[in-house]
Parts: sequence; C-alpha cells; structure tokens
Amino acid sequence: MRIAGRQQVFRDPGQVCLVMSSTLKSLRALSDPTRLRIVALLERDELSVNELQEATRMGQSRISTHLGLLQESSLVQSRRDGKRTFYRLHPHPDGTGREFIQLAIRGAKELLEFAEDQTNLKRILTRRREQAQVYFNQVAGRFDRIYGPGRSWQAFGHLLLRVLPPLVVADLGAGEGLLSELLARRCKRVIAVDNSDKIVAFGAAKAKKNGLKNLEFRLGDLQDPPIESNSMDLVILSQALHHAEDPAKAIASAHRILRAGGQIMILDLSRHNFEKAGELYGDRWLGFAESDLHRWLEMAGFRKIEISVVAREEEPPHFQTVLAGGEK
Ligand SMILES: C[S@@+](CC[C@H](N)C(=O)[O-])C[C@H]1O[C@@H](n2cnc3c(N)ncnc32)[C@H](O)[C@@H]1O
Repeated sequence: MRIAGRQQVFRDPGQVCLVMSSTLKSLRALSDPTRLRIVALLERDELSVNELQEATRMGQSRISTHLGLLQESSLVQSRRDGKRTFYRLHPHPDGTGREFIQLAIRGAKELLEFAEDQTNLKRILTRRREQAQVYFNQVAGRFDRIYGPGRSWQAFGHLLLRVLPPLVVADLGAGEGLLSELLARRCKRVIAVDNSDKIVAFGAAKAKKNGLKNLEFRLGDLQDPPIESNSMDLVILSQALHHAEDPAKAIASAHRILRAGGQIMILDLSRHNFEKAGELYGDRWLGFAESDLHRWLEMAGFRKIEISVVAREEEPPHFQTVLAGGEK
C-alpha cells in the first residue's frame, strides 16, 4: 500500500516501481544476519562457495540460498572460473548500493560471529597465497626447464620485439623467413636473402599470404648479398654462416651493407665434432670457435664486439649456440 501511495507522487510510475523494487530487494537481502556476514566477508576479496562455507561454518545449500538473494539485489556478482564460481561485491554500485553495502558491513561488525568469520577468512586468503608460492618454491632452480602454460620462447620473442625500434633489417640465409616474418611485424623493412630459389619463392608467397608488405625476399648469396651499401640498420645471420664457403667474406659483406652505427648479429653453432652435420644438414663448417668469429668481425671493421654462448641443447651432441655481435 505504501508503495502505491508513493507512486502517485512521481510522474513515471514504471520508473518508481523499478527504483522501489531494487531498494526493497536490497533491504530484504540485508534483513538477515547471515547475509550481512557474507557481505562483510566479500568486502576483503572474492570467494567461492566452499571458502564462504569454511569461513562461516555453514552448509552449502544455506550459503547458496543467501548468495542467490544477494545477487538478486545486485549487491553481489558472480563469475565462473572453470568449474568454480566466485562471488564478489558489486564493484561499481550506485550511490544507494554503496550505502547498503556500508550499512551491511557496519551491521555485520555488531554480530558475535564477525570476529571468527574474519579470522577464518584471513586463514583462507593466506592459504590461497601460499598455494601459489608452494608451487613456485617447489620448482625454483628448474623453473626455466619445466613446462609452464603459455610460457614459450616465441612469446618472449614477441615481447622483445616490442622494444625494438623500427629498423631496416637484412636477414642473410633467411630460409623460409621464420625470423624475417617475426621481425617484419615490428621493423620498418626486412630484406630476406637466400640462395635457394625454391626457398625464396616459398618465403615470398608466405609473406604475401600473411600480408607482410614490408618483407621482401631476394635470391642471392650471403657472401655478396644483393643489397645496397650503407643501407641497413641491422644484419642478421642466423644459422647461416656455417653454410658459407668463406665466412670472413660474408661478415665483410655484412659490414658493407650496414650504415655507420648499424649492428651485425650472428647466431651460429659453437665449434663441435658432430661430423654428420654436413651430410644431415648440409653444413659446410662444424660451427665456429669464438676466437674465429672475433677475428673475422675485427678484420671486417666491427667495433664493440660481444660474443657469448646463449643456448646449449640437452640432447647429445649438445649443440651450443653462440651469439656474436658488433657495431659498424
Ligand atoms: C639452417 S637455414 C637457416 C634459416 C634461418 N636463418 C633460420 O635461422 O631459421 C640456412 C639457410 O641458408 C641458406 N644458404 C645456404 N648457403 C647460402 C648462401 N651461400 N647464400 C645465401 N643463403 C644460403 C639455405 O638455403 C638455408 O635456407
């Protein structure tokens, strides 16, 4: 009756009914001490039904009924995470909703159960944090070798690419363009050179299909690449130098095509004794000694030379990858 009476005061009765009904729903939701306790618990963090059960020491069906009423009043929301459902206070309640939540929390604090609920909640949240820590403490020391969902070198590669400036890059002995394609997503321009016509045709078609207009494949020899002198910011030789008849000449050519201040990056195998590499992979050289790479880079005129082993394979023959860089 009182609702009807107030409706007459307003011009739009439909709107009044809506306002009244949401207010009444909230009042009804907060008319029970258990629901006040739930609101006070959810103030700290989102919780699952199991966690609410543990904090309040009440049965699942009672908790679920109370949560249902709180959700109906829009004071509480839920979200699914796999098989579990988490409940939380409405993150952006309107003015009235905010007042109701504050009132509920004040009311809950006057209840005898409040202190024990909060102690239980603290224990639950600590355990949650510890569960994650227990896992990482267990895997510490071998974390980089075990599987972690979503963790991959490819993903790390994309992250590192984002910090690259928009360079002009030559990828010599590029193959089908695994690295060139990755670079083209970020760099201004990438020229991929390879001496296999089939590989160049395949790489070019793939780049076109992937819409990489700034990636150009050229047929040519990495010892004298078909690229203008002093035009590149970065020259990459990734697992390509050990195919060159004359590696020193390839490095000198890289120097020729780089602009002043440009960088060379060579990824190749450390010197190894796996003789079958020639027959199996068409390798001309069994990797390189760091001292040889250093000498050739110096002879070509590179400065700030840095060379280090950056990867070692777990399986025999334990190939090691060396990264050698320098600046023109
Ligand atoms: C092992 S693959 C490396 C491909 C790519 N750089 C990568 O890291 O995935 C070596 C590539 O070098 C090319 N290659 C070998 N000798 C070459 C030469 N003298 N000039 C240009 N490319 C050459 C091969 O055709 C092959 O595509």
